[in-house]
Amino acid sequence: GWKAEKGEKVYLRRHTGNFHEVSLVRPEDVEPGGFETVFPFRESERDDEHALVAALKRADAPVMLIRLRPNQAVTKRAGQEDFNFGDLFAYSKICTHLGCPTSLFEQQTGLLLCPCHQSQFDVFEYAKPRFGPATRPLPQLPITVDEEGYLVARSDFIEAVGPAFWERKS
Ligand code: FES
Repeated sequence: GWKAEKGEKVYLRRHTGNFHEVSLVRPEDVEPGGFETVFPFRESERDDEHALVAALKRADAPVMLIRLRPNQAVTKRAGQEDFNFGDLFAYSKICTHLGCPTSLFEQQTGLLLCPCHQSQFDVFEYAKPRFGPATRPLPQLPITVDEEGYLVARSDFIEAVGPAFWERKS
């Protein structure tokens, strides 16, 4: 995992095709209604090429960064704090069914879609599953911006990333 040491910053980067090029993300880089895939990496990995490459390959790393439109309201889980930054929400891209990457966000319905077995997750309601075989919401990554205006993670994902094998009944 990429869990940071206490006080260490965890940036979100785009994968530009060049493993060694670090492209950080500002909130205004994502259009309202838009989304993109980003990867968390630790500040200490920034100047280490091997660590940066490893960071992009971490299995639990891909994050779907979504910007809702200003008029779109969300319902959070009872008792849960805000993990978003304004209109921006970050969720694990790894489907909680069998671990395929979710690939599409429908801005009208707020649904995140997994192409493998058609699970749909509702971003208007903490990414809980609405349709398909997934039974667990996509884990959210708490985000904020740093003093330079870049998006950073406030902590690790709030729940375990990936398939919920232990929840299956057979
Ligand atoms: Fe996503 Fe099966 S892996 S629906």
